[in-house]
Amino acid sequence: MAERLGPEKMHELVRWFIDTALAAVNRYEGTVPQFSGDGFLALFGAPIAREDHAQRALLAALAIRDAIAGGGAIAERGWPKLEIRIGIHTGLVVFGPVGGNLRMDPTAIGDAANVAARLQTAAEPGTILISEETYRLTQAYAQVERRGPLSLKGKRTPVQAYQLLDLSHPLATGAAPVARPFVDRAGEMALLENLVPAISEGRGRVVGLVGEAGIGKSRLLGEFRKRLADTVVWVEGRCLSYSTMVPYQLVLDLLRHICGIAQADAVDAVTAKLHAALKQAGMDPDQDAPLLLNILGVRNLSGPRALSSPEAVKAEAFAALRQLIVGASRDRPLSLALEDLHWLDKISEEFLGFLGEVVSSTPMLVLATYRPGYRPPWIDKSYAGQVPLPPLSRADSLDLLHSVPARLDEPITEAIVAKADGNPLFLEQLAFDAGEADEERSAGTVPDTINDVVMARIDRLPDDTKRILQVASVIGRRFSLRLLRAVWQGAGPVEFIQDRLDAERTTYVFRHALTQETAYASLLERYRRVLHAAAGTAIEAFFEDRIEEVTDRLAFHFGRSDEAEKAVDYAILAAEKAQRRWANSEAVAYFGDALRQLESMPDSEPNRLRRIDAVLKQGDVKFALGRHIEHIQDLDDIGDIVRDADDPRRRASWHYWSGYLRSLTGKGLALAIDDCRDSAAIAAAADLDEIVGSATSSLAMAYSFAGRPREAIEAGEQALAIFEAGGNRLWASRTLWHLSLAANMLGEWETSLAYCRRALAHAAAVDDRRSQAIGLWRMGSVHAQRGDPRSGIKCCDEALALAPSPYDAAHAKAVRGYGQIKMGRLDAGIAEMTEALAWFENFRLRQPSLRWALWLVEGLLLRGDVGRAQLLAIDILNESREAGYRHIEGLACWLMSDCLGRDDPGAAEEYVEQAIRIFEAIGARNDFAKALATRAGLLWKAGDSVAARQLFGEARDIFAILGTRDEQAMVEDALGELDHGAALQRHHLRSVRPPAGPQSAD
Ligand SMILES: Nc1ncnc2c1ncn2[C@@H]1O[C@H](COP(=O)(O)OP(=O)(O)OP(=O)(O)O)[C@@H](O)[C@H]1O
Ligand SMILES: [Mg+2]
Repeated sequence: MAERLGPEKMHELVRWFIDTALAAVNRYEGTVPQFSGDGFLALFGAPIAREDHAQRALLAALAIRDAIAGGGAIAERGWPKLEIRIGIHTGLVVFGPVGGNLRMDPTAIGDAANVAARLQTAAEPGTILISEETYRLTQAYAQVERRGPLSLKGKRTPVQAYQLLDLSHPLATGAAPVARPFVDRAGEMALLENLVPAISEGRGRVVGLVGEAGIGKSRLLGEFRKRLADTVVWVEGRCLSYSTMVPYQLVLDLLRHICGIAQADAVDAVTAKLHAALKQAGMDPDQDAPLLLNILGVRNLSGPRALSSPEAVKAEAFAALRQLIVGASRDRPLSLALEDLHWLDKISEEFLGFLGEVVSSTPMLVLATYRPGYRPPWIDKSYAGQVPLPPLSRADSLDLLHSVPARLDEPITEAIVAKADGNPLFLEQLAFDAGEADEERSAGTVPDTINDVVMARIDRLPDDTKRILQVASVIGRRFSLRLLRAVWQGAGPVEFIQDRLDAERTTYVFRHALTQETAYASLLERYRRVLHAAAGTAIEAFFEDRIEEVTDRLAFHFGRSDEAEKAVDYAILAAEKAQRRWANSEAVAYFGDALRQLESMPDSEPNRLRRIDAVLKQGDVKFALGRHIEHIQDLDDIGDIVRDADDPRRRASWHYWSGYLRSLTGKGLALAIDDCRDSAAIAAAADLDEIVGSATSSLAMAYSFAGRPREAIEAGEQALAIFEAGGNRLWASRTLWHLSLAANMLGEWETSLAYCRRALAHAAAVDDRRSQAIGLWRMGSVHAQRGDPRSGIKCCDEALALAPSPYDAAHAKAVRGYGQIKMGRLDAGIAEMTEALAWFENFRLRQPSLRWALWLVEGLLLRGDVGRAQLLAIDILNESREAGYRHIEGLACWLMSDCLGRDDPGAAEEYVEQAIRIFEAIGARNDFAKALATRAGLLWKAGDSVAARQLFGEARDIFAILGTRDEQAMVEDALGELDHGAALQRHHLRSVRPPAGPQSAD
């Protein structure tokens, strides 16, 4: 390099490197006794002894690596890329001579220094190698990859080495740095160890360690980990006490751990680490990284997938995550430690269920800890088991007490053993408490509960320390020094922690959740709110350009502060983020938080807008959850403030949602039409084209439901032009569905099929599965209605193969059921329709319920269940009248006449006439012809074969024009028999007609 650079530049580069590296070493209080040509040796823990020398060495090495790789100065000055190697080893050195001045030139001699130097030579450029000895001291928080065993010069046997990736969780519970002796849990330990052989053979297991707080679950996990040492890959994930609300909390913790992603990593680092991990698992980063980055909240999904069915994308993300986890068990068995599942969030729980499916065929041991009362998703599976942790025996309790460095006399020991009831945490804390209390108060009083004893101990801390503990407890179970410092407003005392370690990247964890909870509870509410606000503000500042990642935390902190506006704004952002990550229930919960907050806030213009947003933005989630009725109520509640708000976008959106939902739920169809019109008008006046389009498209749907197909087509075509011109293919296809609905009503099958094909083309162009599924079942419904049930069923099968949402799946099943009925498979068809109907009724979606119920009536009639058919038809008739679904009302009348045809021809006649009038008014020609045929049957029955022939003829002509195959065949059949002078056959009324079609029976 010197040659290329020239002596002067080379000198400059070396100086810069030495300065940068020395700064890092100094920061962690290391010394540099030796320089060689292009490197140096640094010592930590000498000449001044430090307990945490190994950690300091790692931190310094990472700081050097990052500073050099950061590249700022190097790129700026046009230097070539520097490739540094670092080796770290822990051992004894002879260090001397030492005077008062650390800058003297002592020489560090010894084997330890040699090993470090050899590791350095063996390291790949740009990496850090650490020895087995160093790793042993730091494994609780060092994230490494195994390298070696390496043959090092001067060493007879190859040595194990590890490449250091990053540091995390320095004080994680399981492997606390100074753990007291482990008191017998031999039985439980043996149970765990017995699982290992099967796991190694690829038969995975799930084991839950269950027990009350402080009983020793985490400790057992930690001890087991030590026994396994590096025979397994150990991956940890932890739930937090407030994380039940944070979607993906546990899953993300696992993901970060697997990829070695640290909390403080910036977007680029996260992306790079994720890519590396995916590659290592043999996966394709281009394919899978975007999904996982979206879950991480680092980068939103873009492109077709963003538009796709949320369920489908979530399934893909789950699959990628599972593959990544399984991939981690490629070289060695994987041990997945899941801590504190009693705080598990819903989505992670769903994922664990999904992961469970492959456990038994993977070399993977899932170890979960949770308190009694929690039921993990795999509880009933054959590959899963549970290990309950009973209280320690008296002898073990005494053992544990003896290991605690506090002098306790006999009566106190007895009192403690009696009170603690075999709970190790309680024992420990009581022992410390008694030890500390000795001087201050009369011994002999023993606190009653674990909380009391923890509180007593917190109270006895020096003021500054106690304050630090309390402040930290507000931040959470886990907190970084950087954050603590920012939240801490006093001066000085923060040195208490700073003194022990100075590492921005370091994360601290309360060893026991209980300590955090107790410290938190000891704060005055008023002060807590101030601290939460400070924590929120600090996080806001740290994550200034990555707010998306931390909206849940910000919503949490501001939600507990007096900064109500921020609380609401972040709750809404967190809700939207949850929505983007397919966590619908969490999204609704956050929206709910925002609305609750707003209730006690002043009635100002900005707050009113916030309230409107919190309701409007819930539209899609509530829809996905089937909570339409509730959402209409919410919309009604904000109706007044929306009308007063001087904000066309929000007003137009409100009207649009209100109209859309009302038309589906049957709550005021006339109002719905007005709403859609208002929305379009408001949006048009404000040049909001997209909203004009959405409103007009919804108007088309509402018109169809109201039995106004021609107006529906006019509105639909208008909306379609807007969306096709603007390239909004999703909305274009949605609009085409509404158009097809109207065309069906008119009996114009070819037009309707053309609309469906066009909708499918749009959906395919943006690769949107949800729209494809919908397009397909709609096309299926056209086929079924025109008398081609075979094609109808095929479309529905294809729709269902796309894994549509429950809503769309129910539609597809209803249509398929109708197809089956038309094919003559009555029982299967009726069963499928009944199932689909139950779904819509459950969510009180009236329009689809009634529409599919009509087809069910047809099925029942064909099967001869006239009584049931009639009851159902009356219901449909009454409800459709009330809701204003005119076309459905006509069809219900027509079916009523069929139901009654046999026993009460007079009433049947009245109904069919009503039906004919309605169909005529609507322009529903196909249905009009069907009603004519029914009327013809009634006339025939009454002996008027001339009039009957006349009506059958009219009906046949209409069916022929429209191309309704099955109905046309039936009418021609009837005409033939009439011409042969036959009397009315049973089958000329639908109620007594055997199923028609190419396959009469199965
Ligand atoms: N068998 C044991 N021998 C010695 N100490 C133990 C033993 N079991 C637990 N302890 C100690 O008791 C304390 C509480 O244990 P631990 O943190 O494992 O409880 P836990 O069951 O995980 O509680 P939580 O539900 O609150 O997470 C720890 O300090 C731990 O070191
Ligand atoms: Mg625990």
